[in-house]
Amino acid sequence: MAESSNVMEQIVSLCKRRGFVYPASEIYGGLNGFWDYGPLGVLLKNNIRDHWWRNMVLSPPIGPDGHPIDMVGIDTAIIQNPKTWVASGHVGGFSDPMVDDRESKQRYRADHVMVMVPKDKQGNAFAFLPGEQEAAEKKIKRDARRNPTDYDVVSLMTLALDQYGNIVAPATKSPGTLTEPRAFNLMFITYVGALQSDDSKAYLRPETAQGIFLNFKNVVDTTRVKVPFGVAQIGKSFRNEVTPRNFIFRSREFEQMEMEWFCHPDEARQWYEFWKVERMNWWRSLGVKESNLRLRDHEETELSHYSKMTVDIEYLYPFTAPDYGELEGIAHRGCFDLTQHQENSGQKLDYFDQDLQLKLKEQGVSAEDIKAKSRYIPNVIEPASGLTRAVLVILCEAYRKEPGRQGTEEFLSIKPQFAPIKLGIFPLVNKEGMPEVAEKLYLELRRDFTCEYDPKQSIGKRYARMDEIGTPFCITIDGDTLKDQTVTVRERDSMAQQRIALDKVRSYVAERMRD
Ligand code: GAP
Repeated sequence: MAESSNVMEQIVSLCKRRGFVYPASEIYGGLNGFWDYGPLGVLLKNNIRDHWWRNMVLSPPIGPDGHPIDMVGIDTAIIQNPKTWVASGHVGGFSDPMVDDRESKQRYRADHVMVMVPKDKQGNAFAFLPGEQEAAEKKIKRDARRNPTDYDVVSLMTLALDQYGNIVAPATKSPGTLTEPRAFNLMFITYVGALQSDDSKAYLRPETAQGIFLNFKNVVDTTRVKVPFGVAQIGKSFRNEVTPRNFIFRSREFEQMEMEWFCHPDEARQWYEFWKVERMNWWRSLGVKESNLRLRDHEETELSHYSKMTVDIEYLYPFTAPDYGELEGIAHRGCFDLTQHQENSGQKLDYFDQDLQLKLKEQGVSAEDIKAKSRYIPNVIEPASGLTRAVLVILCEAYRKEPGRQGTEEFLSIKPQFAPIKLGIFPLVNKEGMPEVAEKLYLELRRDFTCEYDPKQSIGKRYARMDEIGTPFCITIDGDTLKDQTVTVRERDSMAQQRIALDKVRSYVAERMRD
């Protein structure tokens, strides 16, 4: 655990030092749960964003029939008519169950708290947060003088209130200090127009999904898509999280990459399985190690109000290890959202399935049945992930510390495609005709790859800086370049160097940038 939290501290420190992520409004002391993405952070974030858009919208997966599936993109307003959030269930129900510890004054999300309960029901139970089970085990050995194997690990949510009196909270030594869970609404309120009253109250969206449902009819009426099809969106979402924590993992302003897949209710289960496979493949394509990813089905008690079934793609974060934490949710939302918006808006949001109508006609189904079956409210399968959480995963995945490594012990082994800077271009010394050749190469390549031209400092320091920010290749122009038109290319992870022809640099990098 100590080691994992050290790793996180080192990643946060590198991010600040090298311009990936800064605390928001830092000069005023910051604002808890808000972060700014620096010059390298925005490049990394945009690379992941573009990869998602390319793989989901521009070149979507091949469907079970061997053809690319239908997908369109959208970009909807952050502030929608507040009735949206009443219909979606967010005004009434978008809340986290919170428990307070009266003694330590800590506040926890009740569904995050785990408890070690004695199997024989004798004595106290010990609560802990994900990744901190060791601390609860220590208390069991020291205070209860028992063996942790005598205890079951359960979620606090599964325990009855009359058991709370026996629970020792994560930050206390005596039992009975936790309050009962209370709901806390997570939406940020704002006002539209000059007057601030209940009538002008509006909300910053807590998810991008609802903007898609509101435009279901617009998309069907104005494009050539037919069910099944998807609508994808990337954008900011806002949640007044009670306990923003773990760097950018849980923040109050973040970006989501969401897709709503509209399909026939009879096919929903099949598409749910399809998207599980596709989305796992997408995370692998970012270079995330197989052993760091897993799928976890939601228990019945965990399901959101709209969900029939949900599976999370989870990642082994340093701060959750040895446990995993959420990265993306894939939910079977049934017809919940379109039905709700249809009822609340009074607008018809059903779908007339012409292809199904023809098929049923061919099968000799009665006219009455055809009419009833061809018009329906589609079901929705929703893969919903966090873009900013993906940035964190790439950083955790790429972070390396190799004591004794030349130049810098710390470096980021980011897959070349996603590296903020692909290529460092250096003259060995800032004279003798080398800067001119290096700058010419930089000017030739900068439109194809994000390059950095740097003529200053010792070559070792320049390599070290590039390693720290995850630049996969560095090109050095030296005395020999002027004689034989070759350059040194240095690879980040292995630090291996080789000579290649100056005019082959472009193809060398391009080849290594492919999927
Ligand atoms: N439309 C469904 C929905 O929003 P969610 O599980 O609440 O589902 C989807 O959010 C994803 O958005 C999560 O898996 C996570 O990656 C990201 N996310 C949610 N809350 C977040 C927060 N406070 N900070 C950063 N990312 C968050």
